[in-house]
Amino acid sequence: MDKVCITLNVNGDRYELAVDPWRTLVEVLRDDLNLTGTKIGCQTGDCGACTVLIDGKSVASCMMLAVAADNKNIATIEGLSTGQDELHPIQEAFVEQGAIQCGYCTPGMVLSTKYLLDQNPDPTETEIRQALSGNLCRCTGYHRIVKAVEAVAVKMRADGKGE
Ligand code: FES
Ligand code: FES
Repeated sequence: MDKVCITLNVNGDRYELAVDPWRTLVEVLRDDLNLTGTKIGCQTGDCGACTVLIDGKSVASCMMLAVAADNKNIATIEGLSTGQDELHPIQEAFVEQGAIQCGYCTPGMVLSTKYLLDQNPDPTETEIRQALSGNLCRCTGYHRIVKAVEAVAVKMRADGKGE
């Protein structure tokens, strides 16, 4: 089958690519664009390791063909902070609260948190747990992740940043 020409807008950069029509978005992000912060876990839509934001909504990029992302705006973990040595406040909170162990789930957790806080800057613990229910962590037991989200929600509201 012939390759398909697509345009991906990733973290503000525009990429024109020719891709096999069966390849998933996460494969193209990692293998063609070298954006390896997005992780591959289950490849069946269950673990959330591959979470990215597409036009602002969280999506499991293992469940989306790259051709379906043509002309869409994609945000990966690499684009979240403002600079090479900067952390986004969500990332800072995960570090400060000890919400990272092996780190494999962390990019997906952070992007799901971003999506949550974009929609709901003042979530309850239940809402946080629901919002992250599609992101599995084999290490932390989730408690510190929830604490990190609570902490950054407070900080971002105090700073007047809803993003
Ligand atoms: S790798 Fe996509 S949800 Fe698990
Ligand atoms: S920190 Fe290891 S899977 Fe979450």
